[in-house]
Amino acid sequence: MAKKKLRLAVLASGGGTNLQSIIDQCQSEQIDAEIVLVLSNNPDAGALARAEDAELPHCCINHRDFADRETFDQQVIAALQEAGVELVVLAGFMRIISKVFLVAFPHRIINIHPSLLPAFPGLHVQKKALEYGARFSGCTVHFVDDGVDSGPIILQAAVPILDDDTEDSLSERILQQEHKIYPQAIQLIAENRVRIEGRRVKILGAEKSTNTLINPPLRAL
Ligand code: GRF
Repeated sequence: MAKKKLRLAVLASGGGTNLQSIIDQCQSEQIDAEIVLVLSNNPDAGALARAEDAELPHCCINHRDFADRETFDQQVIAALQEAGVELVVLAGFMRIISKVFLVAFPHRIINIHPSLLPAFPGLHVQKKALEYGARFSGCTVHFVDDGVDSGPIILQAAVPILDDDTEDSLSERILQQEHKIYPQAIQLIAENRVRIEGRRVKILGAEKSTNTLINPPLRAL
């Protein structure tokens, strides 16, 4: 009997490279999930073109057509429920999620953010990490709560910040890791191995990480 697949909606406002990595891993059956809806608030989103190319159900609900956040979210919720969505995956979705949305999908909305949270929530965070002089940045997959990039953390990947980095080179290094950890987090949820305990998230059966990163690396003595 075929394995039951987790029914995903991917919500994206931009180019959709994270969407693409999820499409690819669903198609190659590396994750036990299927995308049942790609939804954008932006009619020009590259993500919609990627959904079209992959022959996935997709739609645009333009936030500009709605008087307020709640009515927009109600429309989005209706589309997700209609598609039988089990997990909502935000992938560069540039809208704040309102309370009605959280209530409709409790602990069932995840996001990816291009910094090591709780450092640098919000926008333009690769630039902020560079300007701050941090030696590491990275990306974080987390559950969405009613704050900005503040929900319980599922997975993180750290990348070094190099002396000659630009915002673009750092963003690219982080993005490569995003494409790895986002599908991985979805798979953990599909396998029902993720438990939220207060602020902390337990991953059942996870290997212990013993890697310590130092940047720049220590010189051998
Ligand atoms: C990514 O950097 C993601 O972390 C952030 O928005 C960006 C989306 O990129 N939330 P893409 O549209 O998936 O290429």
